[in-house]
Amino acid sequence: MRFWIVGKNGMLSNAFQRYFTKKGVSFFATSREEVDITSRKSLEKIFEKEAFDYVINASGYTQVDQAQKEPSLAILLNSVGVKNLSILCKKHHKKLIHFSTDYVFDGEKDEGYVESDKTAPISVYGMSKRDGELQIAKYADDFLILRVSWLFDEEGKNFVRTMLKLLQEKDTIKVVSDQIGSPTYTLDVIESVMELLGQVGIYHIANRGMVSWFCFAKEIALFCNENQLESKADVVPIETKDYKADAKRPLFSYLDTTKATAVIGKEHRDWKIALRDCLEKICK
Ligand SMILES: NC(=O)c1ccc[n+]([C@@H]2O[C@H](COP(=O)([O-])OP(=O)(O)OC[C@H]3O[C@@H](n4cnc5c(N)ncnc54)[C@H](OP(=O)(O)O)[C@@H]3O)[C@@H](O)[C@H]2O)c1
Repeated sequence: MRFWIVGKNGMLSNAFQRYFTKKGVSFFATSREEVDITSRKSLEKIFEKEAFDYVINASGYTQVDQAQKEPSLAILLNSVGVKNLSILCKKHHKKLIHFSTDYVFDGEKDEGYVESDKTAPISVYGMSKRDGELQIAKYADDFLILRVSWLFDEEGKNFVRTMLKLLQEKDTIKVVSDQIGSPTYTLDVIESVMELLGQVGIYHIANRGMVSWFCFAKEIALFCNENQLESKADVVPIETKDYKADAKRPLFSYLDTTKATAVIGKEHRDWKIALRDCLEKICK
């Protein structure tokens, strides 16, 4: 069993690389300089040259606000590139493992989103990711689409690491308190993916429990205080309407993971437990 990870330097890609190295799983990863998924030719070379069973697409246009200003770039990467991968995976009989997002939903529901819920993105990023899902359904045969939300990791650019830095540097941090979702540790995503490899279709993966960005930030601050880590900032709640951002975000995007947990046979960890695990690794 050998994996090709598309995207070498991204957060999720790095988490996969650490996990595979630790577990002794065979893999190789390519950066955008080595393989550009927007070029079918560039992709085809790898399909012809390398031996592998699974393609993990850990690439993506991920700048949610910037996407509003350059929609064609977001669509090129998140939809056209994904179509290229889908066509080649089908042609070469490889399984495609792809990551999508809770931002494919509009946030108007008042209970967790299930896989069959209607998508209705409210941002360019969300729309480009939804289009990517549609390309896979149309062009790939054997695929897994994992919708994940609010990812955090001990490395890379993510909310947890940003908060740790701001807690040290600032006096006050204003954090949105009326957007609710499921913070999710990359490690738990990867462990779920390994359990779902034999499945086909869309699955939601998230740590258990729902929370606002504000309460998420407070939990990080609490960990700092309990562990005598430098943290001088006050975390203050603000409403979405008072927070300037180019892209709209769903107010409620909690992912219901019943479908995945039925296959895996156990529930995901609570987000607070996963967060503490991640913070302890950062502090080591
Ligand atoms: N972060 C989250 O909270 C979150 C939430 C929901 C869903 N997701 C999805 O999860 C996936 C991974 O997210 P992430 O946060 O790990 O992303 P990230 O850190 O922004 O990494 C993006 C990756 O995309 C690669 N890339 C960009 N343009 C490329 C191109 N033309 N050809 C090939 N590779 C290209 C980059 O390549 P290099 O290796 O060369 O730098 C990088 O590895 C994305 O699909 C994202 O939409 C993320």
